[in-house]
Amino acid sequence: MSTQRDIKYLADYQAPDFLIDKVDLTFDVGEMATRVKSRLVMRRKLGGGQEGALVLDGSARLVSLLLDGDRLDASRYSLQGETLTITDVPDSFILEVETELEPAANTSLMGLYASGGNLFTQCEPEGFRKITYYLDRPDVMAKFTTTIIADRQAYPVLLSNGNKVGEGTLDKKRHWVKWVDPYKKPAYLFALVAGRLSVLKDSFTTRSGRAVALEVWTEPADLDKSHYAMASLKHAMQWDEQRFGLEYDLDIYMIVAVGDFNMGAMENKGLNIFNTKYVLARQDTATDADFEGVEAVIGHEYFHNWTGNRVTCRDWFQLSLKEGLTVFRDQEFSADLGSRAVKRIEDVKSLRALQFPEDAGPTAHPIRPASYIEMNNFYTMTVYEKGAEVVRMYHTLLGEAGFQKGMALYFKRHDGQAVTCDDFRAAMADANGMDLDQFALWYSQAGTPVLKVSSQYHAADRVYSLTVTQHTPGQADVLPLHIPLALGLVGRDGQDLPLQLEGEDVATVGTRVLDVKAQSQSFRFTGIDSEPVPSLLRGFSAPVKLDYNWRDDELAFLMANDSDSFCRWEAGQKLSERVFVRLLGDALAGRELRLPESLVAAMRTILTDLTLDAAFKALMLSLPGEADILEMVDEADPAHIHAVRESVLTQLAKSLRGEWHETLKLNQTRSYRPQDAGQRQLKNLALAMLCRLPDAWPVESAKAQYLVADNMSDQIGALNALRDHDSEARRECLEAFDRQWRQEALVMDKYFAFIASAQRPDTLQQVQAALAHPAFSLKNPNKARSLLGTFGRNMAAFHASDGSAYRFMADQVLAVDAFNPQVASRLVQVFNRMQKLEPKRRALMRAELARILAQPELSRDVYEIVSKNLDV
Ligand code: TRP
Ligand code: ZN
Repeated sequence: MSTQRDIKYLADYQAPDFLIDKVDLTFDVGEMATRVKSRLVMRRKLGGGQEGALVLDGSARLVSLLLDGDRLDASRYSLQGETLTITDVPDSFILEVETELEPAANTSLMGLYASGGNLFTQCEPEGFRKITYYLDRPDVMAKFTTTIIADRQAYPVLLSNGNKVGEGTLDKKRHWVKWVDPYKKPAYLFALVAGRLSVLKDSFTTRSGRAVALEVWTEPADLDKSHYAMASLKHAMQWDEQRFGLEYDLDIYMIVAVGDFNMGAMENKGLNIFNTKYVLARQDTATDADFEGVEAVIGHEYFHNWTGNRVTCRDWFQLSLKEGLTVFRDQEFSADLGSRAVKRIEDVKSLRALQFPEDAGPTAHPIRPASYIEMNNFYTMTVYEKGAEVVRMYHTLLGEAGFQKGMALYFKRHDGQAVTCDDFRAAMADANGMDLDQFALWYSQAGTPVLKVSSQYHAADRVYSLTVTQHTPGQADVLPLHIPLALGLVGRDGQDLPLQLEGEDVATVGTRVLDVKAQSQSFRFTGIDSEPVPSLLRGFSAPVKLDYNWRDDELAFLMANDSDSFCRWEAGQKLSERVFVRLLGDALAGRELRLPESLVAAMRTILTDLTLDAAFKALMLSLPGEADILEMVDEADPAHIHAVRESVLTQLAKSLRGEWHETLKLNQTRSYRPQDAGQRQLKNLALAMLCRLPDAWPVESAKAQYLVADNMSDQIGALNALRDHDSEARRECLEAFDRQWRQEALVMDKYFAFIASAQRPDTLQQVQAALAHPAFSLKNPNKARSLLGTFGRNMAAFHASDGSAYRFMADQVLAVDAFNPQVASRLVQVFNRMQKLEPKRRALMRAELARILAQPELSRDVYEIVSKNLDV
C-alpha cells in the first residue's frame, strides 16, 4: 500500500538525533488565516548521528525557513509527505519556521481549529505538526514561550500554557498576550485558546502554601453550568495531595470548554481543554451520571499533571504508562469521594461491555501495542481501562503503602523525563524488593485470560483445595501471567473463614490474595471444618474471565452473604447469564421463553431488601446487557439476543409488579438533592419496568414525572421509560423535550441518543430523519456519537436482517471520514464484532466493510480498522 499506510513498530524505536532546548512561538491568529512563527534553539545530541540531516514533522503550509538567520532556499531543504528534511545543519543552531494555517477549514479538530467562532488546539498525539514543523514526538521536551496576537474584538481572551508574563496593545484593533511555561514538555502538551469566553474564577492554596488561581472558561451562556467543574477541580487537587502527596506546580490552572472535541478532554500543561460534556453540568441539564463524568474527567486531566506531564511517555507505544495510571488514579478519586463498591462495579461493567469485546476482536492489542498504522486508533478501552486494571494489580500485589513507595521512587527517578512502561514496573519492583519480571507479560500479551478454578473438599483431613489453570483464548504463543487472585471462603453462617495455606503457621482473616503464576497451580487451605462456598476474584482483582462451576443455590447464597460487594453483585450476574444462555437455546429451538423461578426469587430478595444502598441495589437489579450476552455465544442471532433479554425483563416486570411498584413509591425524592442519585436511579428503573406492563397507569405516571421533574435525571428517566412505546404520552413528552432544550447542545445529545436507542420498528427511519433535525450536525463529534454511535449499539435495530442499517452506517462512516477521520474510525468499529454473528449478517457486514475499503480517499484511521476487520 501507499506510504500513508506505513506500519510503525515499537521495536524500531530510536532516540532522537537532535534536542530542542527552547521554543518561542508567535501566533498571529484569525479564523481564515493564522500565521505561526516558531524559533527553535536546537542542538545535535552527543553521539547522535554526527552528519545526519534534520528531519522535522509537519504538514502546514510553509512560508519561510531560516537557519541561524539565513533564509534557506528550496535547494537546502525538501518537503515530502509529512516531513521536512534540512540536509545540512551545524551542531547547534537556531531554526526559524513560519507557517500559515486556515483554522476555519480544519474539520479534523486536530491542530488549530475553530469552534463557535473561537480558536482551539488539540495536539496529542500528533497534532502539533499541523501547526508548525517540529520534532513532534514525546521524548523531545522543551521549554515553550507563546505570544498570541489577535483582534481585540474577535479574540479578547488569549490563553496558552504556563504563566502569563505580559500583555499589551499593538494598534487600535489588535492586542497581544505572552505566556511562559517554565516546565519542559513535549509538543503534544502545547495548547492555545483564543476567543470570546467567560470565566469562573476561584483559588486553591497547596499544602506547601502556593496560591493557585483556578479558572474555568466557557461560552458566556454556559458560565452558570461551570460550578460543579470548579468544585471537582478543587476536590481533585486536595485528593492528590492527601492520597499521593502530589501538589500542583504552576500559579494558574485553566480549564476551557469547547463544544467540538474529538474525545473527552486534554491535559495540556496548565491549560486543559475539555469537551463541554465533561465541564458543563447543572441540575436541570445534566443527569447524575453526567455529574459523575464531570468529576471523573476533571480529576483525570488534573492527575495527568504528574502522571503524564511531569513524567511523560518515551514514545506512543507507551501510552498506557500515562493513561492506565491516570485512569487508575481517577477511579480511586471517585471511589474515595463516593461509594467505592458502586464505583468498582460500574468500572468492571464497562470494562466487560467495551474492553473484553475489543480484546476478543480484530483490533485486539496489548496495553502496550507493538505496532500501529494510526496512533489515534490506540486511545482505546484496552490502553486506558485494561491499562488501569494492570496498575490496579500492582496495587493489589503491593498494598497501598507499597504502591505509594513505588510511586515515590518513580517520581524520584523520572521527574522531567520521557520514560517507558518498563521504567514504571522497575520502580514498583525496586521500591518493594519484589520480582515483577513475569508481570511484564501483561504489557505484551493481548486477549482476556480465562482462569479456570475447580475445588475439592477433603472432609477427613479438613482440607479445601483449589486448582487454578489459566489460558488466553484466541491468542497464539501466550505465556502464563502473574495474576493476583483475591478470594475468601464463605462458611455456612455467611462469614468469611480464617485462611491458612498448608505450610503456614497462622491463619489470616478475610480476603487474601493468591499469586497465580503457573499455567496450573493448586492451593490447599487447612483447618476447614465444612465445605465452604468460594468467593473468587474479589474486587475483580485481575482483568480475567473466571470460570468456576457454582451451583445455582451457591450463587444465591453469595448474592445474599458475600462480604465482598463486587462478588455479591457478580453472583447475581452469573445467575442471570445462565438464564440467558439457556433461553437463547430455547429461542433457537423455537421453544417458549420461560423465566426460571430461581431468578425471580433472587430478584425479589434484592428488591425487598431495605438495608441495601440504593445505587448498589440498582446495580444488583440490572441484568447483563445485550453486548455482554453477544460475547457469551457464537454464531449469534442479534434478534434472538434482543428478544430473550426483552422477554426476561418483561417477565421480571410482571412477576414482581408489586415489588417494583413499592420500590417506585419508596424512592420518590422530593426536591432535588445531589446525594439522592441512587434513589433516582432505582426509582427510574422501577418506572421503566412498570412501563413494560400492559397497564395504562405507569405511562401516565411517567408522563406526570416528566412534567414535574426539577432535574435532568428524572426528566430523562421518565422519557426513557416511554422510549419503546407508541403512546400519545411519548409523543408529547418528546416534543416538549425538543422545544425546551433546542438551544442546549448537550441536552439535545440526549434527545438524539433517545431516538437512536428506541426499540421500535421505525428506529432506522427516525435516525435518518434526525440527521436533518435543525439541532443535529454530523460535523459535531458529540452529535455524531449520540445519534450514530448509539444506533450502532442498538442490537435489534442495527442488526436488521436485511442489512439496511449496516448500509446506512457505512454511508455515514464514509461521510464523516471525509472531514474527521478520528470520529469516523470510532464509528466504523460498530462492525468489530462481525465474527460473532451468524453467517448471513456476517456476510452483509463484510460487504459494507469491503465497500468502505474500496473508497480511494479513505483515511489512514478508517483503513487500519477496516483492514483488520477484513483480514480475520
Ligand atoms: N490524553 C487525553 C486524555 O486521556 C485524551 C486524548 C488523546 C485526546 N488524544 C486526543 C483528546 C485527541 C482529544 C483529542 O485525557
Ligand atoms: Zn488521559
